[in-house]
Amino acid sequence: MLAPFSTRLLKWYACSGRKNLPWQRSVSAYRVWVSEIMLQQTQVQTVIPYYRRFMRYFPSLKSLAESPLSEVMVQWAGLGYYARARNMHRTARLIRSHYGGRFPKDKKILMTLPGIGRSTASAILALAYRQRHAILDGNVKRVLARHADIAARPGDTTANRKLWKQADDYLPHQNIAEYTQALMDLGALVCTKNNPQCERCPVAEDCLARKIGCIAERPCLAISKKKPHRHVFMLMAMHKDSILLERRPPSGIWGGLSSFPEMQSQAEAEAWCRQKIGHITNTNCLPSFKHQFTHFSLTITPLKVEIGKIYPRISEENGLVWCKLLYSISGVPAPVKKLIVQLQNSRDKDDS
Ligand code: ADE
Repeated sequence: MLAPFSTRLLKWYACSGRKNLPWQRSVSAYRVWVSEIMLQQTQVQTVIPYYRRFMRYFPSLKSLAESPLSEVMVQWAGLGYYARARNMHRTARLIRSHYGGRFPKDKKILMTLPGIGRSTASAILALAYRQRHAILDGNVKRVLARHADIAARPGDTTANRKLWKQADDYLPHQNIAEYTQALMDLGALVCTKNNPQCERCPVAEDCLARKIGCIAERPCLAISKKKPHRHVFMLMAMHKDSILLERRPPSGIWGGLSSFPEMQSQAEAEAWCRQKIGHITNTNCLPSFKHQFTHFSLTITPLKVEIGKIYPRISEENGLVWCKLLYSISGVPAPVKKLIVQLQNSRDKDDS
């Protein structure tokens, strides 16, 4: 007779699971919550340095709630999906004002907080307080959809209900934190979307999708959706060792972060510089590259414009500031950071 799903998974976790992730040390609801939000749309390896830095800046829920949103955005800059940071800040303040600064231990209450859905609430309670709740994030959905052969297209509520039931049915009565982590690890390390390693899987023996031969179709066949596409020129106006950055409006894409001014054409960028910034001494169009957002893709053409003599004042009310190249990479989105690092490197080369 086969041992229960959870027993086999826990045994696998004991030798092959991840036990040294930064949020697995000094476990608290606050630390688990921050990690779960960061991990919602971002890979573990990308999250780790951000998580460490975030914890140094905001070691407690109190410190996060007391900080202005702009400081939180600076620490989040580069991680993407910035609504997560805004929601975290709102949630920290709500917990401070409504729950005495302590993380609620009740799932229904947790789920009322911004950015915390059913699976995230369950993960926090299972990992931090060892409460018995099922999780169902993207990785876990794939594991269960394959093991129990449940076809589930996005938005299919009947299939989703079946998956939640399956997740509940498999829950052990003990070692819930380890089990929860094990399920996530199995999805991330073994039961991967492409090329799953069934030979290493502790629950392969009774995996229905494997038996039937439909692993690639569970939870569903990937349909490539064509996203709308946009193109912008990013104006990298340089004056000596300074670069012009613009604070973006608080909401919308990259809300509240600093970035390069965006233009529709090279001609528009040059005319704008002449009118507002100063005299152009050189213009250089750099290779274009693509950046993916959730709902559209953006081709960015960086335009390096060197400004000789600058006009004495730029309009700060438009959020424009000259910033020393060396100190400009905090609080900017990932593609902008990449461009600034390129500029720094090319200057270092010129100097040597
Ligand atoms: N993805 C979501 N939560 C996670 C966790 N605790 N560890 C690793 N990956 C995760």
